[in-house]
Amino acid sequence: TSRSLFLLPGDGIGPEAMAEVRKVIAHLNDKHGTDFVTDEGLVGGCAYDACGQAISDADMEKAMAADAVLFGAVGGPKWDPVPYEVRPEAGLLRLRKDMELFANLRPAICYPALAASSSLKPEVVEGLDILIVRELTGGVYFGEPKEIIDLGNGQKRGIDTQVYDTYEIERISAVAFELARTRRNEVCSMEKRNVMKSGVLWNEVVTATHKARFSDVKLSHMLADAGGMQLVRWPKQFDVIVTDNLFGDMLSDVAAMLTGSLGMLPSASLGAPDPKTGKRKALYEPVHGSAPDIAGQGIANPIAMIASFAMCLRYSFDMVAEAERLDAAIATVLGNGLRTGDIMSDGCTKVTTAEMGDAIVAA
Ligand code: NAI
Ligand code: MG
Repeated sequence: TSRSLFLLPGDGIGPEAMAEVRKVIAHLNDKHGTDFVTDEGLVGGCAYDACGQAISDADMEKAMAADAVLFGAVGGPKWDPVPYEVRPEAGLLRLRKDMELFANLRPAICYPALAASSSLKPEVVEGLDILIVRELTGGVYFGEPKEIIDLGNGQKRGIDTQVYDTYEIERISAVAFELARTRRNEVCSMEKRNVMKSGVLWNEVVTATHKARFSDVKLSHMLADAGGMQLVRWPKQFDVIVTDNLFGDMLSDVAAMLTGSLGMLPSASLGAPDPKTGKRKALYEPVHGSAPDIAGQGIANPIAMIASFAMCLRYSFDMVAEAERLDAAIATVLGNGLRTGDIMSDGCTKVTTAEMGDAIVAA
């Protein structure tokens, strides 16, 4: 049985970065005997131009059927005026919703060659390898009531509601514990149980899930604000961090900046395992957007997109050795001093998007 990948390059630098992943896939198939089969669709502004929707129903079906989806980036000034329902981001939101991608994985890894250019002290970030697991489909971004009420006395009231049910906390913590087992076997759960009822429940359910199914993993708890401080003070104390949608949004952005450029950051979003096959729906994408300011020039950094494919090898296909080789190739190329413009520093060699991709394949 072959492994199917559905590629959605999107807009701006999305297609430029995806072209480099295609080289990696072709190399694996040619030289390493893998059997990846790829298909490609439209998402974002280019899909709107083609069919008036941010993703067509036909492409949505292909995304649902594929073993994994690789997503580039969407958006750009050209589509700022389009109606809200069909704006480029709507394509990504529909993919997340229909595929029920409730677990967002954001690793923060510091490549040795880049430690010196971090805004933190090199000893704080050197060798850093942490994984933030953020709940993506619940919490205060989606809870009801969610509204602005006119109080009639010249005052208004804005309301968002944090809601979490047991099953939502159970399934996200299970993902975190399972991933920890493939790493250093430690999970730190972050909430604010001191001031939030949903935080009390979060803490209870994570603890119960740990006791029932994952007692071999080391579990600790931290208040999310203290967690933010510790992430900046001494991030290497963490292995896997599991947290809710809102805290995860902020903490993962903080963790991201420990390691440098937006052009380096991969992510994965996973759904529930299929009861029959055990396989999870999954979408892999760089953290960055379509970068209209540099699109079309062939100078974008493809590493975030390529590292997202390394996550795909690891999490969708259990190809751990290949994933490690790909990550090592990225480290080698950086170690050799090759840099795209966004990560350029003194004494290094500036390369194009395609040259970076070629060098990674060669390594
Ligand atoms: P952005 O991530 O596209 O760019 C921010 C800055 O980082 C720019 O200066 C850009 O040149 C640079 N940058 C980003 N990725 C890079 C890479 N791989 N190599 C080199 N430099 C890189 O965020 P921005 O400017 O806020 O948004 C631009 C467009 O992208 C907007 O339409 C926005 O809505 C969309 N967007 C889409 C996302 C997605 O598809 N998931 C996520 C974030 C933004
Ligand atoms: Mg964010």
